[in-house]
Amino acid sequence: MEISPQTSLADLVVQQPGRARVFERFGVDYCCHGRLSLAEACQEAGVEYKQVRRELEASDSGPGPFEEDWSAEPLSRLIEHIVEIHHNYLRCELPRLEGLMTKVAIHHGLRYHQLADLAEVFLAMKSELLEHMQKEERILFPMIRRLEAGKAAPMTVNNPISVMEGDHRHVSEALAAIRRLTNDYTPPQDGCTAFGALMAGLEELEEDLHQHIHKENNILFPRAEKLERELAQFV
Ligand SMILES: [Fe+2]
Ligand SMILES: [Fe+2]
Repeated sequence: MEISPQTSLADLVVQQPGRARVFERFGVDYCCHGRLSLAEACQEAGVEYKQVRRELEASDSGPGPFEEDWSAEPLSRLIEHIVEIHHNYLRCELPRLEGLMTKVAIHHGLRYHQLADLAEVFLAMKSELLEHMQKEERILFPMIRRLEAGKAAPMTVNNPISVMEGDHRHVSEALAAIRRLTNDYTPPQDGCTAFGALMAGLEELEEDLHQHIHKENNILFPRAEKLERELAQFV
């Protein structure tokens, strides 16, 4: 696929999932702002379009991390993947990071005051994410599975989808605040091993959440809405 200034971020990553890594490096938000064109996104992130384009092309020619092409797989498989890989990851990782954060705060809390703000943002995001995943698994995902089985849902998927997209925007803002508060996940020179592990864990959490939200916002949700429109034509 031709990379042009007008191509949307969502299309770029759906076509070549490895491009997500380039966007991560440049701080370009391809998950919650997937509808932005590449030129608009570069301008918003304060990076040069030509440089990003060069790196995207370089990433296309390399082997890149293996990621399935979810744009054509059945939606039920994509849902299964999101729950097994991304939801399970969060259910294990969020409590682990909370434990690490408590440990770090006990040792360094007096010298690094931003740890209190970090814990506040992290804990709010944690409870929001746990609730959010329940809503997806209990309400939205079963509706999408029904649509794929050819059964019209009792209500349109548009409403739960717009609620989920709103939650994703909150999460994205919390991640940006965490990145700011940790100075791009940099542990202090005199930080203990737990401090380093916390920074590495938070950075990995950000990358996983970007992938997770991208698969929902840019692939699963638009495909479910399209399926619903197609089904309505046959009723
Ligand atoms: Fe999810
Ligand atoms: Fe979600």
